Amino acid sequence: MNEIVSTITHYVKQKLENEGSGHDWHHIERVVQHAEVIAKAEGANDFVCIVAALVHDLADDKIAPSEAEGLKEVERLLEDVNREEREHIIEIISSISFKGGNRPPVTTLEAQVVQDADRLDAIGAIGIARTFVYAGAKGDLIHDPSITVRDNMTPETYRSGQSTAINHFYEKLLHLKELMNTTKGKELAQQRHKFMEHFLNQFHDEWAGRK
Ligand code: ADP
Ligand code: NI
Repeated sequence: MNEIVSTITHYVKQKLENEGSGHDWHHIERVVQHAEVIAKAEGANDFVCIVAALVHDLADDKIAPSEAEGLKEVERLLEDVNREEREHIIEIISSISFKGGNRPPVTTLEAQVVQDADRLDAIGAIGIARTFVYAGAKGDLIHDPSITVRDNMTPETYRSGQSTAINHFYEKLLHLKELMNTTKGKELAQQRHKFMEHFLNQFHDEWAGRK
């Protein structure tokens, strides 16, 4: 492994080892792995994709005291990366987050790759597991039919409004398949999406006493 990549890997691993809201080190490892696969299939700059995947959650408002402080930390961490690639990586991590779904589409191929890699980890069996851990950490219920599914959320209502784990599937996760940027990302999302639909059908059948 390239020395810069190995230093950044070590730093992020230590920092996120015990993070409990679904952004732990293993999430980062999986996103890096998806990013490598998708970057290869799409002919993207794999160094930029891998490093952006490694640092993509450091400026997230759930982990950093503020996005600005998180971005400063990332800039320090990337001081040995050449300026053009460093700026590209910073731009990628500032632009890929979902935050209610109303953000502009990302523009560079590498941003598309990393966004797809992160989104793949939000769907399928892993996505289901992360949703319930996140909802639990936030104090949300598994399901409450009286809480309606929201659409057109601002970043603020997306984060702070009342929701449930099951509603999160309808507010975000079931849309991700259509929002994938790359051909490889779309392909990998298909089966994970079907698995979530299967899970939700079974969930609602059990809830209603049909199974
Ligand atoms: P975002 O891009 O929306 O900020 P993250 O990737 O930071 O989402 O979210 C981390 C994980 O927690 C993802 O698997 C995501 O789907 C899940 N998650 C985010 N918000 C909620 C929520 N309100 N309820 C349940 N799971 C959530
Ligand atoms: Ni992430």
